[in-house]
Amino acid sequence: MKKNMLVTGPTNGIGKETALALAAQGHKLFLLCRNAQAGKLLCDEIAALPGSQPAVLMVADLGNMDQVRAVAETFLASGAPLHVLINNAGVINTERLVVNVAETEQEQMFAVNYLGHYLLTRLLLPRLLETAKKDNITSRLVVVSSDAHALFCKGMDFDDLNHSKKFSAFKVYGRSKLANIMMVKELAKHVDKNLLQVNCLHPGAVSSNLGVNNSHHWYSNILTFILSFFFITPAKGAATSLYLATEDIDTQGEYYYRCKIHRLKPWAKDEATQKKLWDVSASLLNLAE
Ligand SMILES: NC(=O)c1ccc[n+]([C@@H]2O[C@H](COP(=O)([O-])OP(=O)(O)OC[C@H]3O[C@@H](n4cnc5c(N)ncnc54)[C@H](OP(=O)(O)O)[C@@H]3O)[C@@H](O)[C@H]2O)c1
Repeated sequence: MKKNMLVTGPTNGIGKETALALAAQGHKLFLLCRNAQAGKLLCDEIAALPGSQPAVLMVADLGNMDQVRAVAETFLASGAPLHVLINNAGVINTERLVVNVAETEQEQMFAVNYLGHYLLTRLLLPRLLETAKKDNITSRLVVVSSDAHALFCKGMDFDDLNHSKKFSAFKVYGRSKLANIMMVKELAKHVDKNLLQVNCLHPGAVSSNLGVNNSHHWYSNILTFILSFFFITPAKGAATSLYLATEDIDTQGEYYYRCKIHRLKPWAKDEATQKKLWDVSASLLNLAE
């Protein structure tokens, strides 16, 4: 069955390989991009693939909640079904940057990697469920997280969610990816797994634009060049996203690596924190818990 799939951050790296592979399989792609020009080029690339369907461009910066709401509303108003949502976009910043979220200042990595995706997921959740019922299938939510949640942090810090007191790039990035996992875990407790399968993943250490696209330091380019010899390609990095989006799996709330369930650190499994993060996020975004 050809499905409707929405991918965030498809203009580079893992997301681009994910989108191209799904489009080549004939699925209809909805591409949430922050850069309209890069998004149009990707639509053209998809159009040139044999057997592909025209892709739909959705332009929004995931750190801008008004833009996330606007693209979600446009999508919902179009009446299009949604079978698969892939939350892939992400950034690493070497310095503390901030965005405005409902009159509050939020650190940008937390906002883009987590909050924007939380909002998008909450807004599109009813459509994922409706589509599952209508087409008698199980919809999927695939969230690209990272082992950075295990390496660089040991839990959330609710007293300083926007990292205004202390900023350490890898710790902040790790917490944003931990938040991705916690959202999946919390959602998995509440949705009917026959209607929606919710899982997350670590793609591996991938040679991509991560850490380069938001940094203007000359050394990030050199570092990325050196690491590219040790890291896997974006195409290999996309394998687990593609597996969770398309293969016949029956798991709920699991964390995958190399297409297999992967062990989580205890702090990622803390149910009270998962619930608290869900509620704090809802309150920040003026959504019902
Ligand atoms: N690379 C790794 O080793 C690695 C390891 C573990 C997890 N991950 C995760 O894998 C995912 C994909 O990363 P990648 O390595 O493929 O990085 P990438 O090559 O930098 O691609 C990231 C994508 O996210 C988009 N994006 C960035 N900021 C955005 C924003 N504010 N709003 C909307 N889209 C935005 C980028 O758009 P532009 O094209 O406009 O920059 C790009 O399309 C991320 O969630 C990352 O945390 C990566």
